[in-house]
Amino acid sequence: MHVLIVGAGGHGQVVADILFHMDALTPIAFVDDNSELHGRRFLGCPVVGHVAERTRVAYDGIVIAIGNNFIRSSLHLQLAQEKIITAIHPRATIAHDVAIGAGTIICANAVVNTGSRIGRSAIINTGATIDHHNLIGDFAHIAPGCHLGGDVTIGEGVLVGIGGVILPQRTVGAWSIVGAGAVVHRDVMPRQTVIGVPAQQLSP
Ligand SMILES: CC(C)(COP(=O)(O)OP(=O)(O)OC[C@H]1O[C@@H](n2cnc3c(N)ncnc32)[C@H](O)[C@@H]1OP(=O)(O)O)[C@@H](O)C(=O)NCCC(=O)NCCS
Repeated sequence: MHVLIVGAGGHGQVVADILFHMDALTPIAFVDDNSELHGRRFLGCPVVGHVAERTRVAYDGIVIAIGNNFIRSSLHLQLAQEKIITAIHPRATIAHDVAIGAGTIICANAVVNTGSRIGRSAIINTGATIDHHNLIGDFAHIAPGCHLGGDVTIGEGVLVGIGGVILPQRTVGAWSIVGAGAVVHRDVMPRQTVIGVPAQQLSP
């Protein structure tokens, strides 16, 4: 299946590499609304134009490879009529009963344990571990090297920054940000930013 990648930045290039590792999928081109990238090639694939110009190439499905959770959610909804591809690196370890929503990206060395559910267009980044019975919301991003205990709930659009730790049974509310390296030991309300060990709200 030929896959068009929406987003030619760093994350888009990581996603292209994941697709090259998947037997059934072949990345063929990028689109990106940053016109400075047009005409460039990454991993051998050209950046053919803006998102609206995507029919310049023939493709069977698209993957939305934008790191920013809000922009990725908007594009997912805007492009809902397309066949949205889920990309999973073959060296990710995922329990057989895990449910994964359309458009989600799971990177190399990530682990997702039994009973977990991951929503649409989420990112489980390199080396992140999601223990048993987690609920990861649509458009969330669990950054590289994060560790989530069992029965954790991560709301829609949450970013858990690089190396973040969420203790078991905690909930991080929708569209919150957990700063890099933070240890969340109490529930986080929606739309909060928390940092540090133990995690505390970042003063406005
Ligand atoms: C938490 C975060 C969102 C704050 O960003 P910000 O609002 O731009 O905040 P600032 O950089 O202005 O920093 C504000 C204060 O918080 C501190 N701070 C920022 N991030 C911190 C972190 N992760 N841990 C501890 N302290 C942090 C800063 O030192 C600064 O302190 P000061 O006021 O005493 O000088 C950001 O630093 C972060 O950790 N983002 C995660 C990025 C990431 O992992 N992305 C995934 C990439 S794959």
